[in-house]
Amino acid sequence: MAFVSQQEESLSTLLKESRAFQASEEFKKNAWANDPAIYEKAKRDPEAYWADWASQLDWFEKWNKVLEWNPPYAKWFVGGKINASVNCLDRHVRTEKKNKAAILWEGEDGRERVLTYGTLYRDVNKFANALKTLGVKRGDRVAIYMPMIPELVTAVLASARIGAIHSVVFGGFSAEALRDRINDAEAKVLVTADGGYRRGQIVPLKHDADYALMGTPSIEKVVVVSRLGIPQRMKTGRDLWYHELMNEAAPFCEPEKMDSEDILFTLYTSGTTGKPKGIIHTTGGYLTGTYATAKWVFDLKESDIFWCTADIGWITGHSYIIYGPMANGATQVMYEGAPDWPSKDRFWKIIEKYGVTVFYTAPTAIRAFMKWGTDFVEKADLSSLRLLGSVGEPINPEAWMWYYKHIGRERCPIVDTWWQTETGMILITPLAGITTLKPGSATKPFPGIEADLVDEKGNSVAVGGGYVVLRKPWPAMLRGIYKDPERYQQTYWNRWKDIYFTGDGGRRDEDGYFWFLGRVDDVINVSGHRIGTAEVESALVDHPLVAEAAVVSRPHEIKGVAIVAFVTLKEGARKAEQDTKKLAGELKEHVQSKIGAIARPEEILFSRDLPKTRSGKIMRRLLRDIATGKVLGDTTTLADPAVVEQLKHQYEEEE
Ligand code: WT7
Repeated sequence: MAFVSQQEESLSTLLKESRAFQASEEFKKNAWANDPAIYEKAKRDPEAYWADWASQLDWFEKWNKVLEWNPPYAKWFVGGKINASVNCLDRHVRTEKKNKAAILWEGEDGRERVLTYGTLYRDVNKFANALKTLGVKRGDRVAIYMPMIPELVTAVLASARIGAIHSVVFGGFSAEALRDRINDAEAKVLVTADGGYRRGQIVPLKHDADYALMGTPSIEKVVVVSRLGIPQRMKTGRDLWYHELMNEAAPFCEPEKMDSEDILFTLYTSGTTGKPKGIIHTTGGYLTGTYATAKWVFDLKESDIFWCTADIGWITGHSYIIYGPMANGATQVMYEGAPDWPSKDRFWKIIEKYGVTVFYTAPTAIRAFMKWGTDFVEKADLSSLRLLGSVGEPINPEAWMWYYKHIGRERCPIVDTWWQTETGMILITPLAGITTLKPGSATKPFPGIEADLVDEKGNSVAVGGGYVVLRKPWPAMLRGIYKDPERYQQTYWNRWKDIYFTGDGGRRDEDGYFWFLGRVDDVINVSGHRIGTAEVESALVDHPLVAEAAVVSRPHEIKGVAIVAFVTLKEGARKAEQDTKKLAGELKEHVQSKIGAIARPEEILFSRDLPKTRSGKIMRRLLRDIATGKVLGDTTTLADPAVVEQLKHQYEEEE
């Protein structure tokens, strides 16, 4: 790839020396998971294996059955009673962990805060009581739209404590996206903040939320955290300041005894239609799965300082900032802002300052660091690091090598972790104390996970390409789509009987290693963020001048893939060429305001007609080839219907 520097010439040599991709003997010796026999043991009796993990958590009442599997519905630890906040807090504050740092927080503006397990416990209890005084009851939904500040963790765990279902909406989503998610969940309370910092700018969350709140009949109260200290217009009877509620709140809140299968949270993710899916996660199994994987994959020890750079608005933050690491009583860094603010060495400065030992980030970030050059990295002391992780999209071997050399300084193993919002927990990943690493491969299923690669018919492909599936239920698996059981069945279980379809394509090599090749459905993964092409298309046709739109992806050196939109304008709305440039900008803006910056198309191409098959299906392969420049050097000729017609014929013949 073009962006790989000359220094990476040594890549092939390193690749051959597979010895270089094993953890050190020292690492292996001390790792929680270092005995290959655990794979066999888990396979022999998966239920006993998962029960063993579950019994490391605190339960009010033990389960009477490990698994009840009525495809496509699983129940784990049936009859067990548990509370997630108790497992993240109470059980630590009863021990010497009480005064251990839970969160080392750094604001983008340089502000620092340290929350111990003890102080976080106090805050969560108080906020749980505050939510109760606002009328929130077990089973009610609490929407959370916040910057990456400790109060976000407090709000999540406080909801869990009283048995309310949290629904975190990523702070980068637009007001409209927030409104739709609040309405689907019928949330009673929204927790937000006056704003946060991102790349030196203020993200005005409360301001955007106010816009969303004009169309959210279920919301009764809005709690506002003062992060920036900016005065807000507070609606009387609806809006309340977080700090005022906290001043009044009683210090202890009895945790609800939740059923293992009670819903812990919903989190919206994109699918193949225009409407996001509210993924349902329940309590006992989710906690077991995130606890187990956080412990073994990240090898978390008392002395570690873990840093997962994801936003809590995504599943990665739910599972590997909040529930997994906190159930393990880990110390973490939490950072509010951008990696390049005020300069491109911010992450390395943070690692150096806090002595981060385990660092978990995304390939898109790694590719950006590569592009920024090694100067920013080399000046930092990264010697505290001992383990690196990657998540969100396939990591290309070049990025893997760069990460290994320049961040890990050839000392740190890399765990490339494959999973999804739906899986709740990491499913395919190396265990650094055991697995020989191959750059670009997520390697093998976590012990107890039955992942497979199959052909169209559902037959297992031992070596070669296929669809990635899961043959057996796992504890943190989704339990459905909120208010849409039909779609749950349709999306994941309709291809092959009782087999979960991930939507990913991949390859399995001679050693049984998985190599992910990306999505095979109409979902695209931009910078590790999942976006449905249909969502972007419906945002485009929402614009008054647009008749039709088709969205495809094309490779992008940093984002992985970028969004390219083909747009047909309404009759009479056709513009002169200089106007289309302006209109393209306007349409990008429109998509951003409908969904959020992550969905903003990289390029808009205007076409007189969208090429369709005789049966009326948009010819996406042709559009992809146009978008990547494989056909049609000059895309302005798309305005000529004859050109499109001609291309269509070429492709129809091939199809
Ligand atoms: C999709 C899930 C799970 C956290 C972040 C994304 C892709 C994720 C990897 C990886 C190759 C990966 C898949 C998956 N993906 N991790 N290590 N290697 N691909 O969560 O938004 O639910 O997206 O991300 O395509 O299906 P998500």
